[in-house]
Amino acid sequence: MRTQVAIIGAGPSGLLLGQLLHKAGIDAVIVERQSGEYVLGRIRAGILEQVTADLLDEAGVGARMHREGLVHEGIELLVHGTRHRVDLHKYSGGSTVVVYGQTELTRDLMDARAGAGLTTFYEAEQVQVGGFDGNAPFVTFRGKDGREQRIDCDFIAGCDGYHGVCRASVPKDRIREYEKVYPFGWLGLLSDTPPVSEELIYANSARGFALCSMRSHTRSRYYLQVPLTDNVKDWSDDAFWDELRLRLDDKARESLVTGPSLEKSIAPLRSFVVEPLRFGRLFLAGDAGHIVPPTGAKGLNLAATDVKYLSAALIEYFKERSEAGIDHYSERCLRRVWRAERFSWWFTSLMHQFPDDGPIGTKFQLAELDYLLNSEAGLRSIAENYVGLPLDFAEGR
Ligand code: APR
Ligand code: PHB
Repeated sequence: MRTQVAIIGAGPSGLLLGQLLHKAGIDAVIVERQSGEYVLGRIRAGILEQVTADLLDEAGVGARMHREGLVHEGIELLVHGTRHRVDLHKYSGGSTVVVYGQTELTRDLMDARAGAGLTTFYEAEQVQVGGFDGNAPFVTFRGKDGREQRIDCDFIAGCDGYHGVCRASVPKDRIREYEKVYPFGWLGLLSDTPPVSEELIYANSARGFALCSMRSHTRSRYYLQVPLTDNVKDWSDDAFWDELRLRLDDKARESLVTGPSLEKSIAPLRSFVVEPLRFGRLFLAGDAGHIVPPTGAKGLNLAATDVKYLSAALIEYFKERSEAGIDHYSERCLRRVWRAERFSWWFTSLMHQFPDDGPIGTKFQLAELDYLLNSEAGLRSIAENYVGLPLDFAEGR
């Protein structure tokens, strides 16, 4: 078969790209290695920047997010037992974030795709991409029915995440990787219990970082910093709740409602970027090109803005026969990516315990937090970065 854009991966990046292209009348097919249910079963972050929420509207899939998403105007930082609120709205000049789970967003995009009758090959095996250096890129795979398939296309969009085939198909001498692996992971727990607080609480405690997040007024998501050597099987729900309590303050301890976990998993923390993000007629977008530690809630938002830049570039190419957008894609994304990478690394460094840094490392953190949380400039710096940069940030600034 033939299409204009072959999209590899049906995560948020691939699905959003498919939707934006569809809206513009550009033909795209998605090839995904897993089943749709599997993709929806992965529990990921859930904070949308204003720019991401606007993109969902632009893609025509924002209705449920507006109905069910929770608009947050602030976050709380709990520093060794003392709470500080960061007024995001005030210090970012009027921006907010929306709490809306990646699972819900993915479901909305999948429903829209199915409703429009667009082609997605789920459970594709042995996916391979080729020909992107010339004018005839193609994708081959074995379909769910066992048949060998080939898709010829004008462009390939590598939206296949960190473990995908697209980045791996680029010759090593044409791609540069930057990576930092952190000496701990996040143990996450999802439960049908009301959130402990109205806003998210990011806690720096002597026992390690903790995060109190939520998906709705009745569903909570909590995280604990844990050693990389920990195994999720060794963490009972009770052990999780006990440890969380120890990392919170009295107010949170009193209002914490516990319950059975719906999901529990450990994720490593990583900063990772490849340069460039374009190789001839192959583009990398989202986790395929970069990973951030989750502390700044930037992963999903960066994926969305990559996809915005990519869809605009492809639309420009097909409608105006201009290559300006695709030529600037990599540079445009990377500037934004590095800004988010820096914030995510910095916020991670500020809020976690680093065993190798010893007691002086903790003192440095506390002094920096003392400065930041008592200074207009510090609060503005946190707020501006947390709510995210405007889409046109890279244009001539
Ligand atoms: N062939 C086809 N599909 C593949 C292949 C392959 N070889 N390898 C991976 N995939 C699929 C995965 O199964 C997954 O569904 O690509 C999809 C990539 O989705 P994500 O990992 O969710 O990445 P992305 O869409 O860029 O979304 C980024 O998701 O991972 C979070 O924190 C991240 O929130 C951010 C967002
Ligand atoms: C989440 O709700 O899963 C979440 C929220 C904020 C983060 C990371 C994860 O920074």
